[in-house]
Amino acid sequence: EKIVLAYSGGLDTSVILKWLKETYDAEIIAFTADIGQKEELDGLEEKALKTGASKVYIDDLREEFAKDFIFPMFQSGALYEGQYLLGTSIARPLIAKRMVEIARAEGATAIAHGATGKGNDQVRFELAAAAIAPEISVIAPWRLQEFRDRFPGRAEMIAYAEANGIPVTASAAKPYSMDRNLLHISYESGVLEDPWFDASAPENKDMFLLSASPEDAPDQPEYLELTFEQGNCVALNGEQLDPLRVMEKLNELGGKHGIGRVDMVENRFVGMKSRGVYETPGGTILFTAHRKMESLTMDREVMNLRDSLITRYSTLVYNGFWFAPERLALQALVTESQKNVTGTVRVKLYKGNIIAAGVKSPVSLYNPDIATMEADPTQAYDQGDATGFIRLNALRLKVGAGVAQSNQ
Ligand code: ARG
Ligand code: SIN
Repeated sequence: EKIVLAYSGGLDTSVILKWLKETYDAEIIAFTADIGQKEELDGLEEKALKTGASKVYIDDLREEFAKDFIFPMFQSGALYEGQYLLGTSIARPLIAKRMVEIARAEGATAIAHGATGKGNDQVRFELAAAAIAPEISVIAPWRLQEFRDRFPGRAEMIAYAEANGIPVTASAAKPYSMDRNLLHISYESGVLEDPWFDASAPENKDMFLLSASPEDAPDQPEYLELTFEQGNCVALNGEQLDPLRVMEKLNELGGKHGIGRVDMVENRFVGMKSRGVYETPGGTILFTAHRKMESLTMDREVMNLRDSLITRYSTLVYNGFWFAPERLALQALVTESQKNVTGTVRVKLYKGNIIAAGVKSPVSLYNPDIATMEADPTQAYDQGDATGFIRLNALRLKVGAGVAQSNQ
């Protein structure tokens, strides 16, 4: 029997690797998606083999992640509960997709993951896998009583790791848990469980890996130009870049200027509230600039329709329905809505802020000749028409107010 495990090299998935091998007497294929977690990948293959994997896949999925997951989501303007840019949520379906592809290629019957039974990630992995490969079963050790009995706390896991020659890394000792990729780092649990704990305090600044604190960011603002074609950012400061390079460059600039930190309490799909701290430097610039590009180029009613669906779209991504038919249907509308979102946005990055500094487009819908307070040379708008426009819109308000008055 073969099992493909989503492996990060951290304490949990290392212990799970060994435990699966013993418990199921199976061959364990360790799979790590490189989606931009950088140093976390160092020495991973060796570590997985040492821990007992029969084979290791470390697949560079960064380009696909940027192009087919991050960019389409950013076209939608997705933002969960008004704050979260969905950095972990959007990565899970891609990891699951590749995991089941490997399972099929290897003739494995099951996939396994280290997400807990209390979170969103288990749902995202498994709904994505179900939508792509319904025949493959899932093993989620944290949901098994025998596993939880064996490992009631971190101490037992560390002891097991040491007894089995699994090196315990420094990150296992951090007083919170992290998830890193090209779009963000999330921090949860441990000391962060107290929502009164101030993650922004100077004494906690070592936690943040992608961004400077706004108070430590440069005193000089930095200009940046983002060029969009049909809702996708295709160039920075005039240099053409593919989606992966766009994200890397934006992360560097956003991080330098302390942009994109969020600290919130969010609603998990499984019903509980949870406190999360996020760093999304590049994504925050992209999100803001994209909206500014739309302001100049998007038809009012198309924008209104798309905006009315942002909550739906965000919730689908958060809850793990990336490969569900309703997300694909929504995406078709979102992509269509972006046909005219083309041009250049200029912003100034300054101590955690993204300051508007200009916008232009060859397909701008903004016409200063029509909007001007001066005489309109185009004659497209006759101020006299507004009289009838207001009169008709006022009609039902007057009728309603009249009825209310006569019933007093
Ligand atoms: N709360 C965020 C989300 O649900 C982040 C989850 C982080 N996951 C993790 N395994 N550390 O998308
Ligand atoms: C986990 O529970 O495995 C991480 C947090 C989450 O999935 O929401």
